[in-house]
Amino acid sequence: MNLKTKIREIQDFPTKGISFKDITTLLKEKEAFVCVVDNIVEEFKTKNITKVLGIESRGFIFGGALAKELGAGFVPVRKKGKLPAETIAESYELEYGVDTIEMHKDALSSDDVVLIHDDLLATGGTANAVFNIVKKAGVKEVYFSFVCDLEFIQTPEKSNIYKLNPHILVKY
Ligand code: PRP
Ligand code: MG
Repeated sequence: MNLKTKIREIQDFPTKGISFKDITTLLKEKEAFVCVVDNIVEEFKTKNITKVLGIESRGFIFGGALAKELGAGFVPVRKKGKLPAETIAESYELEYGVDTIEMHKDALSSDDVVLIHDDLLATGGTANAVFNIVKKAGVKEVYFSFVCDLEFIQTPEKSNIYKLNPHILVKY
């Protein structure tokens, strides 16, 4: 299945000059949804993944399905102030300002094998921050999965992610 054709592109959203990759058109088609899940599961089924980390909010959608199919637990990584218990936090730079992402401190143990999943890799700032959180938790084995990558954006954070050999389904 050509998944790129299932993703709608919206010009000038959320701001002028941005071509937004809208995965809702992919999600609503059951065959396309299953195709994404099956493809990622095929890649990681032999890795003995024990925890899938989904990045709020679009990373939650496939994250739960992947955890179920891989026989792993699911861990939400959330935007600042959403998680009720003690957290590990990491801040990262945006075009204007700083954002912070958090995970519960007791969500992972050092012997977990972690798959970090999100819908999109753009600057890599979010994914790199999540990687730093996972490292702070003492985890040694970490994998990445993204539905889309905006390859025309290149940053030092993204170079870090590429070194970890991420699994990517659709490239722009
Ligand atoms: C988008 C996207 C990724 C992130 C990628 O999320 O879903 O999580 O940006 O960008 P980056 O590689 O430049 O860090 P967004 O923060 O818009 O929130 P959402 O998932 O809640 O829509
Ligand atoms: Mg997101």
